[in-house]
Amino acid sequence: MKRVERIKIFDTTLRDGEQSPGCSMNLTEKLDLARKLQSLGVDIIEAGFPIASEGDYAAVKAVAAECRNVTVAALCRTAEPDVLRAAEALHNAARPRIHTFCATSDIHLEYKLKRTRTEVIEMTRQAVRMARDLAEEVEFSAEDATRSDIDYLCEVFDAAVAEGATILNVPDTVGYTLPNEFSRLVRTIRKRVARDREDITISVHCHNDLGLAVANSLAAIDAGARQVECTINGIGERAGNASLEEVVMAMNVRGDRLRFESGIDTRKIYSTSQLLSQIIGFGVQPNKAIVGRNAFAHEAGIHQHGVISNPLCYEIMTPESVGVPTNELVLGKHSGRHALALRFEELGYSLDANELDAVYRRFTDLADRKKRIYDQDLISLIASETRVSQAGMIGTDEREWARRVTV
Ligand code: KIV
Ligand code: ZN
Repeated sequence: MKRVERIKIFDTTLRDGEQSPGCSMNLTEKLDLARKLQSLGVDIIEAGFPIASEGDYAAVKAVAAECRNVTVAALCRTAEPDVLRAAEALHNAARPRIHTFCATSDIHLEYKLKRTRTEVIEMTRQAVRMARDLAEEVEFSAEDATRSDIDYLCEVFDAAVAEGATILNVPDTVGYTLPNEFSRLVRTIRKRVARDREDITISVHCHNDLGLAVANSLAAIDAGARQVECTINGIGERAGNASLEEVVMAMNVRGDRLRFESGIDTRKIYSTSQLLSQIIGFGVQPNKAIVGRNAFAHEAGIHQHGVISNPLCYEIMTPESVGVPTNELVLGKHSGRHALALRFEELGYSLDANELDAVYRRFTDLADRKKRIYDQDLISLIASETRVSQAGMIGTDEREWARRVTV
């Protein structure tokens, strides 16, 4: 039997995810999420694009200072000021990675960059060389790789490798490719550029414009990619990125065919998804795989009967395996501290007596106004409670909290 291989999970919720409409986060929120991603077990957190704004610069710096057990990546174009800014933001990281990118498709070269193919190769060489002098690890992405001429794409990757890039990312920037096509592309890059070198990792970064981001990522893994770039809840530019929870659980549930593993603690998936929804102010659609409200709900009588007899009739994974609380206890105005503490524990939060008291007061206040309290409301309560105690400014935060809970 094929041995199980390790896939690195590169989370870009704080960069690609955050740059999509309605998903912006402030520094405190980015740090809250970064801590959660670290405890979830991602290998790399892409914390921002430092030259893009002061906020992104500060976020990368803060995440690098706080998250010492993961690699922290900063994105930059293949231009000197960009690379320097990324390196500066990563200065204190325990494991820094500069992630530099340049488009390689003719359409991007002609209309966006207004550069020739030769110029792009030179820009890549210079940026990777500079990045390699400033950080231990350099990743190079060929933007719009799936619409690039394959011979030229390999030439650009060759140049990046020659200058010291060890992670070659193949983005399907516009979500255009198909699984069999993408796996062929990854195999070609492996054969022609990486030549099965152990020190070179092929990474993939798939957008979901045709709803194929997860399928394409899995096809790429099967073809030899060993890093997947993804986001919580699949947020990201336009239709989003490959969803972390779907990629991880596909490997997990279908370990018979996909002989791969990640470092993700799957029991923390649901609470991470809920935290992100609370931060950005909107959740996933009810039927979203793995983390949607209906993902483990069974409505039809025939299904209910099957599940009661044996959950395996209609469930390919247990709700517990992804941290979805199965406790049927309905939380409302008559619930006590005990039930509340229990539900928080199921959601991955352990509260001391003082914290529980403070959150309980807010909970009863909310329960007076709302028939049903959802998990997202509870996480909102906790997040606002943390911010209140950090800021000592009850008024402002309570208004913010009231805006966010889903009445
Ligand atoms: O979609 C894309 O091509 C990107 C790159 C910067 C990796 O986000
Ligand atoms: Zn992207």
